[in-house]
Amino acid sequence: MPDRTPYVAANWKMHKTAAEAARFVDALLPRIAATQNEVVICPSFLALAEVVERSRGSAVRVAAQNMHEAESGAFTGEVSAPMLVEAGVDAVILGHSERRQHFGETDEALARKVPAALAAGLEPILCVGETEEARDAGQTDGVLERQLQADLAGVDPGRLAGVVVAYEPIWAIGTGRTATLEQAREAIGFIRDTLRARGAAAEQVRILYGGSVKPANAGELMAQSEIDGALVGGASLDPGDFAAIVAAA
Ligand code: PGA
Repeated sequence: MPDRTPYVAANWKMHKTAAEAARFVDALLPRIAATQNEVVICPSFLALAEVVERSRGSAVRVAAQNMHEAESGAFTGEVSAPMLVEAGVDAVILGHSERRQHFGETDEALARKVPAALAAGLEPILCVGETEEARDAGQTDGVLERQLQADLAGVDPGRLAGVVVAYEPIWAIGTGRTATLEQAREAIGFIRDTLRARGAAAEQVRILYGGSVKPANAGELMAQSEIDGALVGGASLDPGDFAAIVAAA
């Protein structure tokens, strides 16, 4: 199995102003100074520049939470990949379930966004995951397969290694309910198998677990060989908690 550097990302969602983000970064950096893991912070658009500036020279890389697939155009309220790159951003979350659920993000749009991010030099963090109803109906694998096939359709097999995938069961996000180790292992194993059909680069893809990750459960989740890291929402808002999760990876 190839070595995959553990990857821990903080998805702040619509939390933290730029000033609050600055305080967080100042508190976090000394706590993660020795880490060998990849650490990514995903603030709001308006706090990106502040986090880029404050974290310069540290292990922290910076990701946006969404982007538009076009380079520019008449798309009021949207932000493009070249704008993010110019701001010093390294990566972008795409297809988060909250965007799929509340903002009409479709697999068709993601099929354009993922290659657009790669082409611009941004690392896509593609989120996939099933609803509780789909899991109860035994459709988890079908949902994951459909999302992966559609969202990665435009990705050249040679570039697959540049994609990070986050498995986030929707019923575990912000609910305090974490998937069991077995559920997370099974789904992530299935995701890896699905990626393998696209070529050998699948072995290098980091596959994260997300959904109510906290310091108390991060260690056992990330000790699973299938799980390469975590996408953390609520517990990433506190620098001490987030640093503890980084240390557990
Ligand atoms: P949570 O969010 O850790 O608060 O469950 C995870 C996410 O939505 O990425």
